Amino acid sequence: MLAVSCVSQSADDPLSGLEVGERPDPEVPDGWVRVRLRATALNHHDLWSLRGVGLPADRLPMVLGCDGAGVTDDGREVVVHAVVSTPEWTGDETLDPKRTLLSEKYDGTLAEQVVVPARNVLPKPAELSFEEAACLPTAWLTAYRMLFTQSGLRPGDRVLVQGAGGGVATAAIVLARAAGCVVYATSRDADKRERAKALGAHEVFESGARLPEKVDAVMETVGKATWSHSMRALRPGGTLVVSGATSGPDPSADLNRLFFLQLRVVGSTMGTREELSSLLRFCAANGVRPLVDGVAPLAEARQSFARMAGGDVFGKLVLTT
Ligand SMILES: NC(=O)c1ccc[n+]([C@@H]2O[C@H](COP(=O)([O-])OP(=O)(O)OC[C@H]3O[C@@H](n4cnc5c(N)ncnc54)[C@H](OP(=O)(O)O)[C@@H]3O)[C@@H](O)[C@H]2O)c1
Repeated sequence: MLAVSCVSQSADDPLSGLEVGERPDPEVPDGWVRVRLRATALNHHDLWSLRGVGLPADRLPMVLGCDGAGVTDDGREVVVHAVVSTPEWTGDETLDPKRTLLSEKYDGTLAEQVVVPARNVLPKPAELSFEEAACLPTAWLTAYRMLFTQSGLRPGDRVLVQGAGGGVATAAIVLARAAGCVVYATSRDADKRERAKALGAHEVFESGARLPEKVDAVMETVGKATWSHSMRALRPGGTLVVSGATSGPDPSADLNRLFFLQLRVVGSTMGTREELSSLLRFCAANGVRPLVDGVAPLAEARQSFARMAGGDVFGKLVLTT
């Protein structure tokens, strides 16, 4: 099968370890299913793997990819849930200390085929195309859990989304708007700010700019570059939900503000099978669709990776087989 693999790792030149080529078809273990992928999508996670973060070198070569939608051997159209928990684990899969994401221990979705535990596929709603469905299991699921499980937001509440161009951030803007929140977003780039507004943000600001009012919750994936602004933006008792640190993982915690204003800082990672099921229903029922920046054949994955590494992306990059 054709696959996109990480064959070596480099912090400075991540694309040097990317290989697009033939790999053996996977075996299907008992209790697992094969999905012949129709569409898959890139995430920043794939770049972290190429940089040597989260993927030990002794597991290479590894097929990359967490997002995918396709057809099982028995003909079901499915979406892949990328969080693989241990077989004996029950409940929230993201809380299993031994959980792993596709492409960390088991080969991922940037291929013509992937094998996953049977419980890691969900029916693809007929309303969503394979390309649209393939965008949902990672960035969109992460945004869904941040907003609707971790933040305590209710319709009418005010939310700030930092770094409007990212996959998680664009998802958070669309989902928060559809759920009836007042949505503020920041971006360093004027063009991205305009596009964030077109997506559903009520008002957009330069990174670090003063907001017209304090917000109930902040969705943070940028990290060091926006952290102190996120802390300043919150009303007393507000909640900062953080799921990533693209600009660096070492924010100054602003401890005085944290305790004096009784803020809550909540970490969030991916989402459960149940949350993915709800997200799929949410999109199918409400006409909400992921924002796709580009679609290319799997064989041209290198160009898409180069775009993601360059940061000039607004929404998801999809690869089709
Ligand atoms: N925990 C999880 O389950 C999970 C799931 C998915 C993603 N993530 C993580 O979340 C983060 C976001 O991933 P993503 O794929 O959505 O997007 P991304 O491509 O990493 O970009 C996020 C945004 O960060 C902003 N940004 C980057 N560097 C910046 C800087 N120096 N100063 C200010 N802003 C900066 C950019 O916004 P502007 O250009 O608009 O300013 C960019 O659009 C990643 O670190 C990823 O690993 C975590």
